[in-house]
Amino acid sequence: MNLSATAVETLRAALGDLLDGLPPKQAAQAVDRLIANYRGATPTDAPILRDRADVVAYAAYRMPATFEAVRSALEAFADAAADWTPGSHVDVGGGTGAATWAVSATWAGSRPVTVLDWAEPALALGREVAAAYPPLGDVRWQRARVNTSLTLESADLVTVSYVLNELAAPDRAALVDAAASAAQAVVIVEPGTPDGYARVIEARDRLIAAGFRVAAPCPHSSACPIVPGSDWCHFSARVSRSSLHRQVKGGSLPYEDEKFSYVAAARFPVSPAPSRVVRRPQIRKGQVLLDLCETEERLSRTTVTKRHGELYRAARDADWGDAWPPAS
Ligand SMILES: C[S@@+](CC[C@H](N)C(=O)[O-])C[C@H]1O[C@@H](n2cnc3c(N)ncnc32)[C@H](O)[C@@H]1O
Repeated sequence: MNLSATAVETLRAALGDLLDGLPPKQAAQAVDRLIANYRGATPTDAPILRDRADVVAYAAYRMPATFEAVRSALEAFADAAADWTPGSHVDVGGGTGAATWAVSATWAGSRPVTVLDWAEPALALGREVAAAYPPLGDVRWQRARVNTSLTLESADLVTVSYVLNELAAPDRAALVDAAASAAQAVVIVEPGTPDGYARVIEARDRLIAAGFRVAAPCPHSSACPIVPGSDWCHFSARVSRSSLHRQVKGGSLPYEDEKFSYVAAARFPVSPAPSRVVRRPQIRKGQVLLDLCETEERLSRTTVTKRHGELYRAARDADWGDAWPPAS
């Protein structure tokens, strides 16, 4: 079994055990409360994750999805930085540790990790779940509040996953600047909504201004070619649904697709994809239509037909979010 499959299975099993300890009705109520809170006006002055029931609900209901989104972003980053492995990791607003699991699923070996969050119950549960998986290694779960006076300890990699949307604009800027000062590489993931994308672009601009190069998803570090308000760059990660998901959301599909936006950038030289598939490919009879973001800082649609032979076969296998053409 590969690295990420092992991490995914261990995470699922550990989250399943957690839910077993919570009556289904209570779990469903905690998820309802969580969803209502996240629909409310954010940012807030106090953590949304207040107690163990909130945190179990978050971990069971959202953590598999945030894990898969971060894992996709890290995979794209690792493709662009093939010889690099983080020797240390700080996860800001790390909550129950989804990004820590995703890092462990992406790069072999363990590394010192610090997870920072202002919600103590989230850190406590993260610590508990992490105990199920020794490869996560030496993780410090530390209480910290993100605000405009934030500074971060130096680390090879800083991740910020699904956090910017919980912060006021000055705190968002301070977090991205602190990450840029502390890290060799920064990976930021947000919900795949127009607002999430806007926050990612704002962060991307700050990272570039601080001397970073974009490794993924963009093929370049110039301005994003999307005209603001006309569209938003986002991707999709498939997530197996847990019994809690089915219970809360109904329906019988065994999976759902988590939409996310992200930027991964580094201070060291990277090799971004020549182009990236930015929508789900459309497969027609004898041809595949690919929407691409290209090195020449533009969006384009390319049609790959049977005449293209090997490339056509690759296009049939191409997925939304993949580099194009695939590395041979
Ligand atoms: C949606 S959760 C994401 C958790 C985790 N990063 C993930 O991807 O699953 C947002 C996290 O940010 C934390 N957070 C929000 N505002 C914060 C602040 N001002 N300081 C520290 N942590 C904060 C919350 O406590 C919560 O754990």
